[in-house]
Amino acid sequence: MEQKQWDKLAEKYHDEVISPFFGEVENPLIDELKKIKNKNNKIVAEFGCGLFYLGEKLSKMFKQVHASDFSSKMVKKAKEGNLQFTNINLVQEDIRKINYKNKFDVILSVNSLLMPSLKDISVSFQNLHNALKKNGTCFIILPSMEAVIYHGHLLLHQQLDKHDEATAKRTAKVMFELNKYDLFTGHYTDGKDKQKFYYKHGIMQFMKKAGFNEIKISKVKYPWGKEVSDYEDFPNEDKLWDWFIKAKK
Ligand SMILES: C[S@@+](CC[C@H](N)C(=O)[O-])C[C@H]1O[C@@H](n2cnc3c(N)ncnc32)[C@H](O)[C@@H]1O
Repeated sequence: MEQKQWDKLAEKYHDEVISPFFGEVENPLIDELKKIKNKNNKIVAEFGCGLFYLGEKLSKMFKQVHASDFSSKMVKKAKEGNLQFTNINLVQEDIRKINYKNKFDVILSVNSLLMPSLKDISVSFQNLHNALKKNGTCFIILPSMEAVIYHGHLLLHQQLDKHDEATAKRTAKVMFELNKYDLFTGHYTDGKDKQKFYYKHGIMQFMKKAGFNEIKISKVKYPWGKEVSDYEDFPNEDKLWDWFIKAKK
């Protein structure tokens, strides 16, 4: 999605965007941040901060906080919500165009590397790496393509319990919206909206190419339930997830 589409979402963000910071989500990020030593002497940055839900936490943990988003509406609302925290610097900038060199001790990007162009994504990973200090730590959360396919698998088996095999495959593909996914590149297209999902091997490729080391990938797990997802529920099955990446420079 482009800047203007995110501008529109700023007004109804919580209705439209599933956040890893609300509800019963199992998100390792805060515990990981707590483990970082000498935080009160360190600078943290979140790129693609949206309404900047992490503002208060980061402000209290770190000496200085830089946060940015390319949507002017998101930045405006993020500023309004974080006025009282004097160590936060909130600006409008595009991850594809930032040009920081060895500036931040810790960098965060939470579901903000969603741009459709693979070249833009590659540049963005590189820009995050450039912006990180040597020995700095980067935390990235990205939507999982494997989780989408896993959900499709659950749909298929649900349909197999109800129908003959040919019907089950046909109905499951419709429910899955197979025609909207490019399973090769990991893109979902709905009208004008195009969003990138990530395979684990794709993340490793982008991260290594950008120069990151000690890349560890785990999961942010989402509870089943309509308040966090439009997906059909399977409460007795393993949860859906985003990828959680921790890496060093
Ligand atoms: C799903 S929201 C996540 C916001 C926030 N990180 C959170 O987790 O609550 C994605 C955000 O990334 C921003 N974004 C997308 N592409 C961007 C880019 N190229 N540069 C900067 N921000 C971008 C959008 O404007 C939006 O605010």
